[in-house]
Amino acid sequence: MNVYDSWRIAAMLDARGYKSTNDVADADIIILNTCSVREKATNKVFSALGRIRDAKKPSALFGIVGCVAREAGADAFRRMPELNFVLGPQSYHKLPDILENPDARLLNIDLGGLEKFDEMPQPATSPTVCYVPIQEGCNHCCTYCIVPYTRGREISRSFDDVIRDTKYAAKNGAIEICFLGQNVNGYKYTDKNGNEFRLSDLIRQTAKIPEIKRIRFTSSYPTEMTDDLIEMFATEPKLLPFLNMPVQSGSPDVLKRMNRPYSLDGYLEIINKLRVARPDIQISSDFIVGFPGESDSDFEQTLDIARRVRYINSYSFKYSPRPHTAAAIMPNQIPENVKKERLAILDSLLNEIQHEFNNSCVGKTMQCLYEGSDKTGKHLIYRTPYMQQCVVRGTPPDGEKISTIKITAASKASLRGEFAND
Ligand code: 5AD
Ligand code: SF4
Repeated sequence: MNVYDSWRIAAMLDARGYKSTNDVADADIIILNTCSVREKATNKVFSALGRIRDAKKPSALFGIVGCVAREAGADAFRRMPELNFVLGPQSYHKLPDILENPDARLLNIDLGGLEKFDEMPQPATSPTVCYVPIQEGCNHCCTYCIVPYTRGREISRSFDDVIRDTKYAAKNGAIEICFLGQNVNGYKYTDKNGNEFRLSDLIRQTAKIPEIKRIRFTSSYPTEMTDDLIEMFATEPKLLPFLNMPVQSGSPDVLKRMNRPYSLDGYLEIINKLRVARPDIQISSDFIVGFPGESDSDFEQTLDIARRVRYINSYSFKYSPRPHTAAAIMPNQIPENVKKERLAILDSLLNEIQHEFNNSCVGKTMQCLYEGSDKTGKHLIYRTPYMQQCVVRGTPPDGEKISTIKITAASKASLRGEFAND
């Protein structure tokens, strides 16, 4: 979501005649887009701001946008008096106000509107992989998560607006659409006539756009994985056979304290249904280790679920206490060294499973999306339907963004391949 937001902010400035630079000392405006989901990222923000303040030219405007801005609010100006603007994740479309009135301080951390999507100009070109936000905020209120505070309650964009953006992206170069939302499969929009639209309707409609060859969505909440959506994996070949559906923990007790009220049997049943719908589907997950009260046996159960599902491309994190969350004040917080040890064990298991999956791809052919050349310029980088990076030697067939690649070798982190028709 932050990658998307940064792209829109850059496009907004581009439309006003600004050009991007990698040199802080050369910039007229410097915007730090921030994430507050874990403490470490938050802590980095103010030290980065200090470095920017010391390096920038005196007339340059600088400020923060995103979730740390929302969390810090006016306090950000107390911590860094030189800041020009502090804009929350739903108010960055207000950025032009500071350009028009550079001597004022701009603070806006309001929630509740999606007007940013409508008020900003559409970017002139689309990247090959185009993110399209369909909903923002989250009603789930997991006890560890700051997102419901920083991004607010769930709001879904109108079906017509999303399809308009998708068609626009297709016309301007997008090949792959990735629908975005904190709780993307909870998407629900009712129009004036009472017609209800779900994520499955968006997928079906998008699959009809000829330029769009691949569709995916992230991030999904297990209990919102409804049958109509599962069915899409059987009926829409453009929908990639890859789904991020975070389980977070394999322990029912921990899940209860996380306020994630699903049973592991129910979760596994959803995966079974997905595999029936699309036998080649692979699942990825996010995991949190060291949640308050997590015992050795709770942690073992997390390893167990990872072994059973054989997740690929997953993310794992040490639990990080966040302000405005219930878990931060729960008893039995886990010491840092234990969290670190558990994370290393889980990471090593996840890497082993990923490596095994990568090995199983050798000899197969896959439709892969061209991403660009590597630094040496000698290799081409492709993305498989499972989001693995695949390095290919040779010249791509003229202008084609999707190619059939035969996988020839695998490592833990990536694949090697060749054009299947060579
Ligand atoms: N500590 C650690 N990880 C967290 N996440 C969310 N909140 C926290 C936290 N307080 C992780 C979850 C989520 C991902 C985006 O970040 O795994 O799925
Ligand atoms: Fe946070 Fe995701 Fe839970 Fe929502 S479902 S509260 S975004 S972890």
